[in-house]
Amino acid sequence: MFVYLNGRIIPSHQAVISIFDHGFLYGDGVYETIRVLDGFPFLLDEHLLRLAQSARALRLGIPVPFPDIKKVIQTLIRKNHFPEASIRITLTRGPGPYGFDPRPCRNPTLAISCSSFVGYPASYYRRGITAALVGVKRNHPLSLPPSVKSTSCLNGILAKIESIDLGAQEAIMSTLDDRIAEGTVSNVFAVKKNRIFTPVLGKDLLPGVTRDFVCRLARSLGLEVVEKELSINDLKTSKEIFLTSTLMNILPVTKLVWVANRKIKSIKMGVGMGPVTRILAVCFEKAARAGKWYNSPLKKF
Ligand code: PDD
Repeated sequence: MFVYLNGRIIPSHQAVISIFDHGFLYGDGVYETIRVLDGFPFLLDEHLLRLAQSARALRLGIPVPFPDIKKVIQTLIRKNHFPEASIRITLTRGPGPYGFDPRPCRNPTLAISCSSFVGYPASYYRRGITAALVGVKRNHPLSLPPSVKSTSCLNGILAKIESIDLGAQEAIMSTLDDRIAEGTVSNVFAVKKNRIFTPVLGKDLLPGVTRDFVCRLARSLGLEVVEKELSINDLKTSKEIFLTSTLMNILPVTKLVWVANRKIKSIKMGVGMGPVTRILAVCFEKAARAGKWYNSPLKKF
């Protein structure tokens, strides 16, 4: 498999980075995950824009211009023969002396890899997954802003561990003041009386590229999308819940679990995809595959 590392496209076994890289030592870096559909990177411009925003928040320069990054992605897809793939762009502070001071790190590390797409099991889409309403809170925006897609993922990893203990496939985190924020690797939607609700974009969650696409898609289908603060009770009383991400597309949640007074509680919301989720999932697949998204992601809708 070929990967890109700091200016060169090389076989993955030759791709080596320093153990003094601050990305490795301190999680000082940002990343993006991009889906490749039929050989075309889906919503690439949106992902690159978010990479730029994340990097800016950490005052991390991107060493290669976007047109060149796009060429690298195109080359990796072709050389690896992966029409259905996921691309990972990782940008870290690069090697430097111990300590958090980023200034001595003069050479950021840019790695782009491409692997054959392995999605979630088909049964997850047929039957829906269990999501845990976990006790771990989403990072406060004044500590590590969730809007930054940083390689420091411990907040999500702790939530994930809690959800595994509860037998769930994803964790839904809330803010310190108990508003729904997002999943560990996904954005959250709820359906009530045929209206689609999702937590409003502010500082509490990652502005998901798929979230935005789904909001536009739903509106183009004449469905009402309401972006507002959601409480845990709003989720528990929804008819349908679904999650979105680059690697999930639209994944239904059919059971919620949580712990109250040291007891595990749960609600079942259905046995498979609800009707609104199904319409969106079918139309998502069609819309995503209909366009050649390379460089022209906004022509839809
Ligand atoms: N994760 N929220 C968080 C915390 C995420 O990590 C992700 C994506 C999302 C969904 O964003 P998008 O629709 O742009 O993929 C929401 C990716 C898939 C990852 O970690 O690889």
